[in-house]
Amino acid sequence: MKKLDGIKACVFDAYGTLFDVSSVANGVRHELGDNWQDFSDLWRTKQLQYTWLRGLTGHHENFWQVTGDALDYTMSALRIQDSVLRDRLMNLYLSIPTYSEVPAMLAALKALGIKLAILSNGSPAMLTAAVGNAGIAAYFDAVLSVEEVGVFKPHPSVYALAPMRLNEPKAAICFLSSNAWDAYSAKAFGFKVLWCNRFGQAPEHIPATPDGEIRDLSVLPELFVR
Ligand code: LAC
Repeated sequence: MKKLDGIKACVFDAYGTLFDVSSVANGVRHELGDNWQDFSDLWRTKQLQYTWLRGLTGHHENFWQVTGDALDYTMSALRIQDSVLRDRLMNLYLSIPTYSEVPAMLAALKALGIKLAILSNGSPAMLTAAVGNAGIAAYFDAVLSVEEVGVFKPHPSVYALAPMRLNEPKAAICFLSSNAWDAYSAKAFGFKVLWCNRFGQAPEHIPATPDGEIRDLSVLPELFVR
């Protein structure tokens, strides 16, 4: 892939990009049985749908609430009634592990002098817990939550938090997301964007196309011209 010139900061999406969302349902796969992955996919799909619906209707609630609402939908759709299991799943979100390449990649970027941040739908409490439990807090110059603006991604006011808080122009910020809709929308906002297409998904047909596609985050430190 062509190297990116003039990048001063990397801004990461959290869930699905740094943190392995399917690890949550995987953590109780013995209880969920063979369809734990379907459970995980439905929960995630509903969680994201609810963020967009809340944005469009103007009824914002934080991501902890939305994640719980989506879990309740999923459990009722799959005919699971188990409040202990529900609590366990929600708690697992707070200690969600990173993908394996993440800590070394963050350390390498930090050593290059690149500013690092998270920009996520996650509530401040969820992000503080996840980043702390994963032992990666020290790498970040900022952990930014949509709660600062009270609307979920991909509202442009969310992306606008990054240049403001990092004090860098949009064009000097490389945004990374595994969520294609997030990557495309961040590009439409004006960042340099790499889509971390972990699962080989098809390209989206929405504005605008990211600058590049990578399979995981491990290649990142080689991609910046210093
Ligand atoms: C986030 C969602 C998109 O972390 O997963 O913002």
